[in-house]
Amino acid sequence: MRRVAALALSLTCAAAQVRRVTPEDIPPELRALDLAATHETTQRRVAEGERDHMIFHALQSRRFTELPRIEPALSARAFAESNEIPRGAAARLKAFIDTEPSDARHRYFRTLVSSEEQIRGEYRRAMRFLHEKEWASRSRQGSDRRDFIAGLYESRGHSTDSSAAANYAAHVALAALRERVPGTKIRRVLIVGPGMEIAPRTGLDDEVPPQSLQPYLTADSLIRLELAQLDDLKIDCADVNRRVVNHIREFPRSDRRLLIKAAPGDTEWNAFFDGAGTAIGKRQSGNWVELSKEAATRVRAFEMNVLTERADPPAAYDLVVATNVLLYFNQQELGLTLANIGASLAPGGHLLHNDTRAAVEAWARVLGLPIIDARMVRLASRPERELYDSAILHAKQ
Ligand SMILES: C[S@@+](CC[C@H](N)C(=O)[O-])C[C@H]1O[C@@H](n2cnc3c(N)ncnc32)[C@H](O)[C@@H]1O
Repeated sequence: MRRVAALALSLTCAAAQVRRVTPEDIPPELRALDLAATHETTQRRVAEGERDHMIFHALQSRRFTELPRIEPALSARAFAESNEIPRGAAARLKAFIDTEPSDARHRYFRTLVSSEEQIRGEYRRAMRFLHEKEWASRSRQGSDRRDFIAGLYESRGHSTDSSAAANYAAHVALAALRERVPGTKIRRVLIVGPGMEIAPRTGLDDEVPPQSLQPYLTADSLIRLELAQLDDLKIDCADVNRRVVNHIREFPRSDRRLLIKAAPGDTEWNAFFDGAGTAIGKRQSGNWVELSKEAATRVRAFEMNVLTERADPPAAYDLVVATNVLLYFNQQELGLTLANIGASLAPGGHLLHNDTRAAVEAWARVLGLPIIDARMVRLASRPERELYDSAILHAKQ
């Protein structure tokens, strides 16, 4: 009996990485917020995001049908013009439901709906949002358009989209950290919202396995930049999406292979991608990297809602990375997030993200997390337009 009790206690201790925040934990001006309602809203947004991915898969994947693939943004425009599901999209939705799944993505997404009627309803919902973002927004210009799209993101479903490119801007920011704070050594990292490529809004490639790159490419960058050593590095990943967490937990037991794909760009970009993965494993042909077992097991994952929960114990991390996550939060939610991240950082630790909104800087000042570096990072250029990301570093005082 005593042994059972002891085992239960040790399991509880091992899992005690996250705790719910209480009003006393957060800035006074946010104490009136209903944290339980915020938590519930997040769960709803996660479920909605999963069904968005399902629709993007149903429209683009070649694994369950030979029907022509459909670009979701074009389908959204056709749907908005007629208020009818276009014939090609309707045929794909039917095939998605009727065909026995033969790959992991289809098998997973098929668990989210039980009938053709249900998936048609999800198509309508997903396309209304996409139409607003991709087409209705074009009636506005410049900062008006950016603000309109930013507003849409504050209530949309939570996407888990991620890409190799997001890691390039983070690498540039870490190189800046090395210059700004010589002698920095990083041992414990928290990645908030590592994400996972599964069925992006555009350009779904069935050959890319469902994968989460950020935890491993962050480790790779830190080692390549001599900010960390593999045998002394621990990376924790906190995501509100259980699919992401389970995937990262299972990764060490898989073949530990990642596909790091990026079109060539300028010299710095190419140098990043040519070397990506070399500090954590072996490069193989076709842009594959096989991670060493040690590198894969340096990464752990747990479920956490960064709005309403925080890592426990506090002040444990030298670096928190949260790219393409903050943009889903409104001004008050940014305050909650930065308070929770700030509590997780050790004094002198750093936060890296890519959200340029003024509210981030304002909360950071209140919470003792001033910005120490901010830059725009040029990504590989596309023929039709230049693409930039931002890279912002804060230091905990
Ligand atoms: C768009 S992905 C970004 C992935 C990756 N960080 C990148 O830059 O490519 C956003 C991730 O944040 C997670 N996320 C969203 N809201 C969250 C919250 N409140 N707490 C923790 N994770 C959250 C999502 O589940 C998803 O995995």
